Amino acid sequence: QIQAFVFDLDGVITDTAKFHFIAWQKLAQRLGFDIDHEFNERLKGVGRMDSLNLILQHGGVILTDEQKDKEAAQKNDEYVELIADMSAADLLPGAREALESVRGAGLKTALASASKNAPAILARLGISDLFDTVVDANLVVNGKPDPEIFLKAAAQLGVSPNACIGVEDAVAGVQSIKNAGMYAIGIGDARVLTRADAVIDGLHQFDVNRFIVKD
Ligand code: G6P
Ligand code: MG
Repeated sequence: QIQAFVFDLDGVITDTAKFHFIAWQKLAQRLGFDIDHEFNERLKGVGRMDSLNLILQHGGVILTDEQKDKEAAQKNDEYVELIADMSAADLLPGAREALESVRGAGLKTALASASKNAPAILARLGISDLFDTVVDANLVVNGKPDPEIFLKAAAQLGVSPNACIGVEDAVAGVQSIKNAGMYAIGIGDARVLTRADAVIDGLHQFDVNRFIVKD
């Protein structure tokens, strides 16, 4: 019997990829190269330092750890400035309704996000109160596809992982859900999210009754 849903944030509830792209592009240009939208796809769901390492590799630039920390901090300052203007208008279609329908069905909700900015973004979107618990990158050691973040969300809810359904748009995220032993709903293309148990285009297609067993 399903007792909870664990949602990813970026690409599921809101689209922050465009803001990350602007800030990463500025960083790349500071270092003398460009990134494009195609490359940006590879950064979805990837944590801050891992993203920086991929970008540096892409540009053929080598930095010391100290320089990396400084560049990552500057990128984040710029990103934080970009997301300061976010509001409920930045919710993806059906996101609020999906969260409300899960809670309306008597189930719990959790957020499992690789972003350290996740709590601030939830506040800007006006949906903090729709989550029973939030796990962000500040609280975990291993990034997706490691199951740690989804397992921690289940633990914080006090629900067994196999009674949880995870919702993710990134390949590594779906892997993280499956590695945690949960049912996985993919958001996007079924040909890409091959490990997902079900795939929908977006939360506007989400129907809680399709996924929970009723007695
Ligand atoms: C999400 C995004 C990534 C981002 C990561 C870390 O997973 O999809 O693009 O790099 O969060 O975000 P942060 O806000 O902590 O830099
Ligand atoms: Mg995502």
